Amino acid sequence: MSAMNRERFQSSLSRSRKIAVLTGAGVSAESGIPTFRGAGGLWRRHDATRLATPEAWQRDPGLVWEFYHHRRERALGCRPNPAHHALARLEARWRDAGGAFTLITQNIDGLHEQAGSRSVVRLHGSLWQVRCLSCGAVTENRDVPITPAFAGSGSPDPDAHARRFTAAELPHCGCGGVQRPHVVWFGEALQASDLAAAADAIDGCDLLLVVGTSAVVYPAAGFVPMARRHGALIAEINVEPSAVTSLCDFVFTGGAGEILPSLLDVAPAHG
Ligand code: OAD
Repeated sequence: MSAMNRERFQSSLSRSRKIAVLTGAGVSAESGIPTFRGAGGLWRRHDATRLATPEAWQRDPGLVWEFYHHRRERALGCRPNPAHHALARLEARWRDAGGAFTLITQNIDGLHEQAGSRSVVRLHGSLWQVRCLSCGAVTENRDVPITPAFAGSGSPDPDAHARRFTAAELPHCGCGGVQRPHVVWFGEALQASDLAAAADAIDGCDLLLVVGTSAVVYPAAGFVPMARRHGALIAEINVEPSAVTSLCDFVFTGGAGEILPSLLDVAPAHG
């Protein structure tokens, strides 16, 4: 991307009143959280249908919890990187100037919130919340291991699964019900309120930033053509082309943590 394009982008950014951001696993890659589809990605090593679907839970909830325990253990030591911080600073500047800003993330790691982002729509739930299957209560839970039985368990392998966890070893709610991760699995519907908030932000935005997502998982992937139809300018930040690169007005190639701090160091023209 030439310096001229960078200047054109920054001038458009500065004049935008309503900014929407869509992020994916790539924004957390520089924090040490593995992506799904790239080199070292989770779905390269694990079959998603055996670990992140309602059917997988029916078959073996202990194996599913082992997978989420593994991800929680890994995420626990990770901190927001310069990309998360740059997005949080951009939001603060736009909020102070009376502009609108919504960050829609497919990530469940909580790093945007940790960096100070406030207007966050978590499309796929949270690694740090659990939901009771009996009473429906959603609670924050940062215990690692989630229950003592998971201490020392590693990356799960459905084929070489040495240990089956008993029902009593799974996390339980105060009401006695079994708790599951409060995340969206393949084949499950997103929360209607999250979907509505995201669609609202996309409908109204004049600029959309698409950061670190392969943009192949719906409905998130559909937000980019939706923004295009509404005439928003779209900028992508990614280490490689994604499924929506051809819809973008600006494409910045490289790590989000490298690119975003200086690229987004722009003051709003309004306010
Ligand atoms: P993917 O793993 O599909 O894509 C990650 C994207 O980040 C790729 O396009 C990479 O090129 C890019 N990337 C990697 N490192 C980067 C960096 N340092 N800076 C910028 N970009 C970088 O992850 P998602 O698109 O988030 O859903 O995947 C979407 C959904 O599929 C996830 O939320 C998850 C997964 O299955 C569920 O589990 C329901």
